[in-house]
Amino acid sequence: MEVHRLTASGGGSLETMAVEPLLTRDYDSRPSLVYERLRAKYGPVAPVDLLGVPVWLALGYSQVLEVLRNQRGIWSKRLSDWTALAEGRVPRDWPLLPALEVNHVIFQEGDRLRSLRAAYYEALKPFQDAAHPQGRQLRDAISRSADELIDVMTEGGGRTGLVDLCAQYARPLPLMVVDHLLGFQSGRGDEVLMDMWRVLDAGPDSAAALERLLAALSELGAAKMARPGDDFPSYLLAAYPELTVDELSRELMMLVGVTGDHTGVLIGNTIAEVITADSGARDSLSMGMLRETVNRVAMVNPPMANLTFRCPTVDTRLGDFTIAAGEPVFLSVAAAHHDPAFAGSMHSDSVISSRAHLAWGAGPHECLGRELATTIVTIAISRLFTRFSSLALTLPADQLPWRSSPLMRGLRSLPVQYELAEGAVPAAPPASRPAEASAPSAPAADGGGETARPSLWRFLRSLRRGGR
Ligand code: HEM
Repeated sequence: MEVHRLTASGGGSLETMAVEPLLTRDYDSRPSLVYERLRAKYGPVAPVDLLGVPVWLALGYSQVLEVLRNQRGIWSKRLSDWTALAEGRVPRDWPLLPALEVNHVIFQEGDRLRSLRAAYYEALKPFQDAAHPQGRQLRDAISRSADELIDVMTEGGGRTGLVDLCAQYARPLPLMVVDHLLGFQSGRGDEVLMDMWRVLDAGPDSAAALERLLAALSELGAAKMARPGDDFPSYLLAAYPELTVDELSRELMMLVGVTGDHTGVLIGNTIAEVITADSGARDSLSMGMLRETVNRVAMVNPPMANLTFRCPTVDTRLGDFTIAAGEPVFLSVAAAHHDPAFAGSMHSDSVISSRAHLAWGAGPHECLGRELATTIVTIAISRLFTRFSSLALTLPADQLPWRSSPLMRGLRSLPVQYELAEGAVPAAPPASRPAEASAPSAPAADGGGETARPSLWRFLRSLRRGGR
């Protein structure tokens, strides 16, 4: 136990320490056990190997919060403040590098961060405000997309059937919302949406898909500069007119990632919670407390399990170690939530309530899209439980497969048996029914993503059991 203290106070460098890999088979199946092992061995901050690169992992609630709040102004997210990266000692083929090098708002500090955040706040405001026309349209679009997906997954069958609610609902729905927010006018919304999916899946075709996606986002950005509309890119430009097309397309990539992936993960996790929990969770739906359920699910299983790196700009004590200036610290929200100092304080008489959880971050980089994400998830859950009278897992809850990446943790699939509710009808009239695949149709005049989606529907139909 003293060994690490000697290393820490003796000024040993992170890069010369013998560190264990974080992403093991154990981490995949039971990350909490890995966190506890590291906490027992090193205390609230541990050195680990992340896919071949040594980093510090902050596991303690108060250490994660201290770095997030950054009250001393010494923690930097700028990639140039990470010494090993700036000096070329991080391998060029390190799998996390592409995600970092997009270099959008998440990796800024100082004036640039403040200006970009202010622009995001303005650009998201109309969509996050339920009373604003854009907010109302967005809520209708989410309901409509949810109903379209439910129609596709249940068509041709009887009142009951088997579906995977991750692949057929939780994952495509937020991407359809992204399509709406981006305001594609080019008639390519459907193809772009499928490319977003390929990129987020990081499969063999992801590099080509990323190239096409960035090209499509640049083209979209240039089109919005020339002819602004009522959409996120136009609002972001209005709030930050100095953005170049390249900078704008990087920010749009950020929107695709957080809205498309994190929100999909939270939808899947929330459905699982509502289906598997005792009657409490279903009761809370009827009591109109769905938003609180979403918040609690985000706390128990934070979609962003770990947050991208911060480096101190001066040597700094954290946990039992001295972190040298320029060394990367990875913040584990999931581990912080398992810290007995946080988890043990969750009783009703505690001063720390579930509202003190860190699933949405905290401090100067705190999430700006929390309201939007919560809205998407609550509408997704509410449409599902309106259209189906019963949803039952086909696997025991503790055997549901999870997917872990260095940053994310969510359900890989959510197989359920459904029973359609008698007489439950779609909430909003569809802009176009999810017709059988044919030629792509022209985009809607408002540029929304609710146009016919031949490849998306074809793909989703291919997922149906037995290929009905
Ligand atoms: C379930 C969905 C979501 C979760 C769990 C989530 C969580 C987070 C977290 C933990 C951070 C802090 C990152 C850090 O400190 O390193 C963050 C930042 C951010 N989020 Fe979200 N988010 C979600 C959805 C969204 C959506 C839909 C948007 C809308 C555009 C959004 C916009 C942002 C922005 C702009 C930041 C960066 C702020 C900064 O670095 O200053 N998020 N989010």
